This record gives sequence, structure tokens and C-alpha cells, in this order.
Amino acid sequence: MTVLPTISFAKVAAPKKGTAVLLAVKDGKTPALASEIDPSGVLDKALKVSKFGGKAKSVVDVVAPAGSPADRILVAGLGVAEKIKMTDWAALGGQIRAKTGSEKNLSVLLECEGLEISPEAAAAFAQGLVLRAYDFDKYKTKKDDEDNADKNVAQKVTLMVDNPSAAKKAWDTAEAVARGVMLARDLVNEPANILGPVEFASRAEALSALGVEIDILTEKEMKKLGMGALLGVAQGSVRPPRLVVMKWNGGKAKDKPVAFIGKGVVFDTGGISIKPAGGMEDMKGDMGGAAAVTGLMHTLAARKAKANVIGIIGLVENMPDGNAQRPGDIVTSMSGQTIEVINTDAEGRLVLGDALWYCKETFKPKFMINLATLTGAIMIALGQHHAGLFSNDDELAGNLASAAEATGEPVWRMPMGPEYDKLIDSKFADMKNVGGRFGGAITAAQFLKRFVGDVPWVHLDVAGTAMSSPSTDINQSWGSGYGVRLLDRLVADHYEG
Ligand code: BES
Ligand code: MN
Ligand code: ZN
Repeated sequence: MTVLPTISFAKVAAPKKGTAVLLAVKDGKTPALASEIDPSGVLDKALKVSKFGGKAKSVVDVVAPAGSPADRILVAGLGVAEKIKMTDWAALGGQIRAKTGSEKNLSVLLECEGLEISPEAAAAFAQGLVLRAYDFDKYKTKKDDEDNADKNVAQKVTLMVDNPSAAKKAWDTAEAVARGVMLARDLVNEPANILGPVEFASRAEALSALGVEIDILTEKEMKKLGMGALLGVAQGSVRPPRLVVMKWNGGKAKDKPVAFIGKGVVFDTGGISIKPAGGMEDMKGDMGGAAAVTGLMHTLAARKAKANVIGIIGLVENMPDGNAQRPGDIVTSMSGQTIEVINTDAEGRLVLGDALWYCKETFKPKFMINLATLTGAIMIALGQHHAGLFSNDDELAGNLASAAEATGEPVWRMPMGPEYDKLIDSKFADMKNVGGRFGGAITAAQFLKRFVGDVPWVHLDVAGTAMSSPSTDINQSWGSGYGVRLLDRLVADHYEG
């Protein structure tokens, strides 16, 4: 298994051994401590020869000359000082990890002429470095081949900063976030034979060690509550469903909670409306929304967020079977509204309809944000970079947009309206679960909206962003953990204290 790097902080000083990373802004001076690390001046020469100008993403990499305490020196460009954002610090951490993963000792001098490096920037750097190091390799039995050489190194990273204790404090928070992201990635990457609804529920239950209160509803309890929509999806699987309620009470007792709800279809075959074989294995990731909610609850508890937060995940498996629901079946949801199931592959909205209604009725939350790998259509519309954002509340949508900007987990607001809503009216029931070929991500959102009443609400369609993810500086994993950093930021900036 990949060994994650350990991070520590120290005062700025010449590193003893291993690789030293120095920083420079665009057209800036020679990096700090260069003369101590490189008494011979070779580094200066290398910077000149390679025309290093401190541009963002440029790196000069030299073997340390005789007389240097270090073995190798990297100089990384930061670009224009005024333009450097938090997301750039995380990306830089990822880039440095990529270049040095096989090396045991890494010293990074976070000091730079013409630039104030905050404790938060140092923490973001460390977070990017750790997230980049994540690798889901638990099912690889050969650990020692060349491909794996890097991962087995227990890398010790020392960040040299102005104020080590302030940076360490910022890192404690940023590390809690990284842990939540990696938990979400683990859950998404895990195959469905290992992670069924019951197993997922017990992974969530483990959060009780951090002080999260856990309540797990079984099939019997859901039946009693009348969750016919969720149960209709689950009935084709031999593995029973679960609804997990996670509560973090970090705020004042009288404060209404905020709520996050996740789609947790541990595997989506499509049911009787079965999916084609090609690529179906990806549907092990159809619980990406539930994974993000679980990761978020981990983070909030680990960093002791001063907020009351509810996390709810609807865990089911969508299978074709003699007992599976059929197209044309009419189910009654907990809300009392009836649904004609036209396509058993539009199952996520059935699960969430009951989960959202249950959340609203039970907890009267300040807002509800649900995450779901809900539609292929959102990937057609937005690709794999932005999540689709649907909302009945401009303020909440705006707050999420700023959190997206700050974390680099982007969202794009999509339209809603009565013209779309009427597309899911049914001939036989109150609504049907699909709305025709056009605007598939929007009609799915309209469906969910029928279960939120007038609670401020956002639906994030993360089908493109949570799984099968393109590699970035801070993520090489199939399951990205999308949503954890975004929602943690939202809570931190708007709903704490
Ligand atoms: N889980 C899928 C959506 C999905 C597709 C997620 C690809 C990630 C990658 C969802 O349950 C689904 O099957 N949606 C259907 C809806 C259709 C039947 C109206 C879809 O998008 O095709
Ligand atoms: Mn489906
Ligand atoms: Zn699905």
C-alpha cells in the first residue's frame, strides 16, 4: 500500500540531506538560502543556462554540487506574486510530489523574495502534496516492481516556514480535509463486491470514533416510514438497503443544522432497463455522492467544525432480478407522492426523493445540498470539470460558487423552471421518473425539487466529476473525492461561529 508522506514544519534553515526545494517568483531574485545550499554557484549557472525566470510551473532540477548539504536541488517557479492563489499552492505541492515521490527526505523552503507565504499557503502546499501521493493500490499484490517503487517510500517532508507553529495549526485543518477527500476516494474506488450497502454503512459507522452520531435505518424501518421509492430500487438486489444518518453537533444547541444528502447506489446495472455492457464496471462509482458526504462528515468532525451538520446517504444496489421493479410500476414515496417508474435506470432520483423528504421532515434543516452521480446528460452538457448546480435559492447557490472558486472544485449553474417540470408529469401517477430525451440533467433536477418543499436547496450532479476522473496536479485517482473540499469550504466560510 502506498505510504503517505508525513509532513512537519521547521524554521527556515539549510536542509541537511535529501532533496531541497527552493522557490522563486517571476523575475525574482535568487531563491532564499541558495548560497548556503550551493556554495559553488552551480545553481546560479543552471538557472541562467536554462533561462529560468520564475514562471509558474517551470522547474530547474540539479544534482547538488560537492559541498552542499543537500543531494538534489529543485527550484520551482511561482509566476507573478500577486496572482498566486490558494489553489496554486496545492497544485505546486502536487507537482513537487510528482517529481520527488521516490525520495525519502524532502525539504521545502517556503520562503521567497517578494512574496509573503501565509500559514494557509504552506498548509495548502502540504495538502496538494499528500493528495497527489494518494494511490488506491490495495488490490495489487506485487509491491516491489518498478512501477510501485515510489509508493513504498515513506517520504518525510519538512516545510521550512517563517512561523512553524502557525503553519502546523493550519495544516491540522488542511490535513483533516485531505483525510476526508481520501476517504471519499477510497469509497468510490472500492469495487461493489466488497462495498455493498451494509459494508458502506459500517464504514460510515466508523466515524463515531470522531464523535459523529450514527443512526442506520434498515429495510424494515424504511418500510415503516413509507420510503417506497428508495425500496423499489433496492428490491432487485439480494443485498438489503440502508439509510445512514450522520450527525455532527459542533454548533450551538439551538442552531438549526445544515444537511448534506448523497446518492449511494453501490452498483447501478440499470435494473430491468439494463445498461449496455461496455463501461458498466464504472457504475461501482455510482455512490460518489454518498462518498463525498461521508468524507465531508469525517473532515468536519476531525477538524471539530463549529456547526451542526447532518449527513444522509441512501445506500442501495440497482439490479435486474425476478423481484426487481419493472418499467410501468407505480411506487409511493415517503412524501405521499406517487411515481411511475418509466425507466428503472433513472434510480438515483428515486433514492434521493425519499432521502431528501426524510431529511426535511426529520431535521428541518437550514438548507439541503444533495450530491449525486445522477445523469450521463450532465457530462454531455459540462464535461468532467464542472459539476452541474441546480438550486431554488440564489444565495446558497452563490455561496457554493464562491467556495468552488476558492477550492478549485468548480460548479456551473443550470436552469430550472416550470417548462421543464411539466415534462415529468405522468399519465398514471403524480410524476414519472424520466422526462424524455432532451435536458436530461434538468428534468432529473426537477424531479428532486418535488421532494424539497421550500427548504433552500442545491442539487450537485457530480456524474462527471466524482469518478473516472481526469488526472490533475492533486489527483491521480479514478475516484476524485470531488465535493469534500468544496462543501467543507462552504461550511467554514458561511456556517461556523
Ligand atoms: N448512474 C447513472 C448516471 C451516470 C452515468 C453516472 C454515467 C456516471 C456516469 C444514472 O443512474 C443513470 O443511469 N441515468 C440515466 C438516466 C436516464 C435513464 C433518464 C442516464 O443518464 O442515462
Ligand atoms: Mn441508473
Ligand atoms: Zn445511477
